[in-house]
Amino acid sequence: MKVTVVGAGNVGASCAEYIAIKSIASEVVLLDIKEGFAEGKALDLMQTATTLGFNSRIIGVTNDYAATAASDVVVITSGVPRKPGMTREELIGINAGIVQSVAESILKHSPKAIIVVVSNPMDTMTYLALKATGLPKNQIIGMGGALDSSRFKTYLSLALDKPANDIQGMVIGGHGDTTMIPLTRLASYNGTPVSQHLSSEALDKVAAATMVGGATLTKLLGTSAWYAPGASVSYLVDSIVNDLNRMIPCSVFLDGEYGQKDICIGVPCIIGKNGLESIIDVKLNDQEKEKFTQSAAAVRNMNEALKEIL
Ligand code: 2OP
Repeated sequence: MKVTVVGAGNVGASCAEYIAIKSIASEVVLLDIKEGFAEGKALDLMQTATTLGFNSRIIGVTNDYAATAASDVVVITSGVPRKPGMTREELIGINAGIVQSVAESILKHSPKAIIVVVSNPMDTMTYLALKATGLPKNQIIGMGGALDSSRFKTYLSLALDKPANDIQGMVIGGHGDTTMIPLTRLASYNGTPVSQHLSSEALDKVAAATMVGGATLTKLLGTSAWYAPGASVSYLVDSIVNDLNRMIPCSVFLDGEYGQKDICIGVPCIIGKNGLESIIDVKLNDQEKEKFTQSAAAVRNMNEALKEIL
């Protein structure tokens, strides 16, 4: 299996690192526009193979899409990350053109690849990749919900003071500070509702911390996070490459599901060898439905900005 990661910055390099360390793919191509940068990161990562015990080959290239040919999965991390105080949405002006040209280059060399979009604003960039390539909707997946759900489960485990892997939960909706919808009603601690263990005030705090999870890290780090984003992408790529059919909330094209059409936004998906295998129709209550409608309206509003490009 061959996985290409476009963009060798913090998120791209972390993603390549986890894919290699977990032996998810035998070949990982890391591509960047900065001369020699991806080559350097790839070589540095390769030099961890004998100490960490993996055999994946990591190849770095400078803007050479021919080297990415026939990839099974391509991850797009290109563009600029946010700085403290910025929203993801403010990145659209710079990132849209970059993501469009990357998607077109991928299409030329790997028309069958499943494309995983990480660049922000993620839901709009996923929609852009879909429209720019004209690929079927199963091939284009935005990763936001995977990351937001891992943050949600982390904050739940901290509030509960229980192991993170005993917690289940999902975040749907847009990958934005105000558009995320942590599904606290459905979250569980080993199959028991978290509401049995935490007060509604504590759950509201967890939801609020989840929604600004990325912004909190951007403030602390001075740039956007990379460990959790990289790991979330590798989790998604694993489900595709190894046909695991995991249920992961991802930003995918909706055609009537959850009452929405012509939009990419986070919903629970089954992810396997064909990318998006199916969308799971989770029964939302009226309040969750209302939040989803508002979230979709905000994402759709952001998509309007693409009209000048598409
Ligand atoms: C984040 O939330 C990179 O958007 C990503 O950290």
